[in-house]
Amino acid sequence: MTKKVSIIGAGAVGATLAHRVLESGIADVVLLDIFKNIALGKAMDLSDASAVVAHERTIIGTDDYKDIESSDIVVITAGLPRKPGMTRDELISKNAGIIKDVALKVKTHAPKSIIIVVTNPLDVMTYLTYKITGFSKNRVIGMAGLLDGSRFIYLIASALGVPRSSVETYVLGSHGDTMVPLISKTKVDGKPVTEVMDKAKLQAIVKRTCDRGAEIVSLFGSGSAFYSPSAAVFKMIESILKDKKETVAASAYLEGEYGLNDLYIGVPCKIGKDGIEKIVEFDISADEKAALARSAEAIKVLNKLLQ
Ligand code: APR
Repeated sequence: MTKKVSIIGAGAVGATLAHRVLESGIADVVLLDIFKNIALGKAMDLSDASAVVAHERTIIGTDDYKDIESSDIVVITAGLPRKPGMTRDELISKNAGIIKDVALKVKTHAPKSIIIVVTNPLDVMTYLTYKITGFSKNRVIGMAGLLDGSRFIYLIASALGVPRSSVETYVLGSHGDTMVPLISKTKVDGKPVTEVMDKAKLQAIVKRTCDRGAEIVSLFGSGSAFYSPSAAVFKMIESILKDKKETVAASAYLEGEYGLNDLYIGVPCKIGKDGIEKIVEFDISADEKAALARSAEAIKVLNKLLQ
């Protein structure tokens, strides 16, 4: 049967994701926004491209949650993006109100779906979605680690002049200032990155990876990154719909894994048809473990604000 992906929020991330999903042919798409005409217009524009792109998938634009019924996946991108000088965390009060509203409607109209959350602050908004929907933890996933990892790989590969495909890494922790690029799991052509790059250069790249989102926000002046976030969500959608069971970094609900409890935070997850099918516990260094614990503390401070 044709798969169905619904995207809540027809802004920069939502519309770019709709474009990727639709033209990949992997699923039909519903694009929903409180501004109905924006969703309608973008869906119409993408439909008009279908003959020339040569695909037979359909997209509808709407503001009616009845249209998301029987979705396999619902992606939540509704919410405000950052402005220059703002941290992701500063979006919390506005976006929490939006997420509460959206999550309740998704629970009502697409109770069997797998939800991928993109709205920032990511780990906090994913936790809120989990609490509001009451969905099982495997069916609520936050997108961030894959994006941060992709940024890290791009910067390493560019600095070394090697193909991006020769670099592997995982970025764990919060999608924020306390993210944890796993140096111990970062390899270039199978060799530890520390053997092919000096420490100072690597540290500068780690810092630039953490600040990459802000770098883009300050260039735009208004709005935040959307090509790379939508690419990372698309990869997660593919992993679910094709039951690939790939291990990627994503924000997951922890119950003791990595010594952490009752929060969403970026960890390696095996993603397949049931969503997060397994949290993979890497053997990480003591420094990395401590950094992950610090990151968890920062998320928990924000989770408390939700009450
Ligand atoms: N229901 C549905 N849609 C909503 C709601 C709501 N309650 N509130 C806002 N929206 C819509 C807006 O109308 C807008 O079209 O969400 C869309 C957000 O789009 P953009 O402003 O372009 O933001 P975008 O860049 O897509 O980022 C969305 O993802 O990466 C994160 O930090 C980013 O939190 C932000 C989110």
